[in-house]
Amino acid sequence: MKKPDFDAVLNALRTVNDPDLKRDLVTLGMIRDLKVFEDGKVAFRIVLTTPACPLKEQIKSDAERAVRTVEGVKVTEIVMDAEVRRNGKAGAGALAEKGIPGVTHIIAVSSGKGGVGKSTVSVNLATSLALEGAKVGLLDADIYGPNIPTMMGVTENPKLFVDPEKGEMFVPPSSHGVKVMSMGFLIQGDQPVIWRGPMLHNILNQFCTKVEWGELDYLVLDLPPGTGDVQLSLAQMLPMTGAVIVTTPQEISLQDVRKALNMWEKVKVPALGVVENMSWFTADDGKQYRIFGEGGGELLAKKFNTRVLEKMPLVPAVREGGDEGKPIVIRQPESEAATLFRSLARKVAQEVAIRAADEAAAPSLQIGNFQST
Ligand SMILES: Nc1ncnc2c1ncn2[C@@H]1O[C@H](COP(=O)(O)OP(=O)(O)OP(=O)(O)O)[C@@H](O)[C@H]1O
Ligand SMILES: [Mg+2]
Repeated sequence: MKKPDFDAVLNALRTVNDPDLKRDLVTLGMIRDLKVFEDGKVAFRIVLTTPACPLKEQIKSDAERAVRTVEGVKVTEIVMDAEVRRNGKAGAGALAEKGIPGVTHIIAVSSGKGGVGKSTVSVNLATSLALEGAKVGLLDADIYGPNIPTMMGVTENPKLFVDPEKGEMFVPPSSHGVKVMSMGFLIQGDQPVIWRGPMLHNILNQFCTKVEWGELDYLVLDLPPGTGDVQLSLAQMLPMTGAVIVTTPQEISLQDVRKALNMWEKVKVPALGVVENMSWFTADDGKQYRIFGEGGGELLAKKFNTRVLEKMPLVPAVREGGDEGKPIVIRQPESEAATLFRSLARKVAQEVAIRAADEAAAPSLQIGNFQST
């Protein structure tokens, strides 16, 4: 029996590309702990750039097929793993340079108009990423109408503790596997919040610096509607990897679109894609109705030079899930809406991974991880 040649196995793996990142798995540093055994067994880990990778199975079978072409390979043992990689910086200001300690990617969920389903998308996106195995936080930056705690079913307040170096810090409560922080925790009852000027800046800064998130792969940021002070301050303060833009299919005011475009361009935050929400309603007779018209998603995607990631149906259970504090992906995981939200989350993770790979130089080969046994 001939032991497979280590270099031949490595070269075979060099023929396998990550379809999104368009480079081979070895160059991308995704092949780890490669071992070749006397009896013809080849074992290695493939470390993807996100646990939510939609191409996981394809990459695994491509790698398997490639390795099996090498003479002497009888058995393959492939473990799929993920490590979310950091990318560069967007935004300006001191925080943008450093980022939030421990947080790898900040994904903003934004819209030109109110009431289009930003918070619903944020909640289901964050929960779906957590269901894929990622470490996720959700920051409710809608300081005027914070409703994320309700939608996530969080009843507990953040805990305060004093860090010897950082001073007073909030520890966010968790729900559905997601760490949640919201202005809603800090205001009493139903009183409206009016923050202006320096106070506003202060509270946002606290939000960004005084929360102990721990290690997060993704921090989803639910932005308030519009393109005003809060959005701009946050976009400048934080290094966001990209923005998911939510819209309804209704015709969108071109002026709103222009404002939103200007804002994101100014802070150099790329659009990861568009979500068209409330695209159709399926009646009891099975007929689909386009209650809010058609075409809004495509139009917005075109303006932002991006794509429509997913279209979402209008489903009463989605709203009920929000009211009950149980996102639809938890409440009815098999439903059409939940399936689409899960798919959306994988596509968002994919877009983030592509951008991180574009910015970071390909990691150097980790020779120490390869060995011939
Ligand atoms: N796909 C959907 N199907 C049914 N109801 C939905 C859907 N998306 C959102 N909703 C409901 O529509 C209402 C508005 O949604 P949501 O609060 O998520 O919007 P928003 O853009 O965050 O609003 P605001 O601008 O006030 O922050 C909520 O009651 C929510 O439950
Ligand atoms: Mg909202």
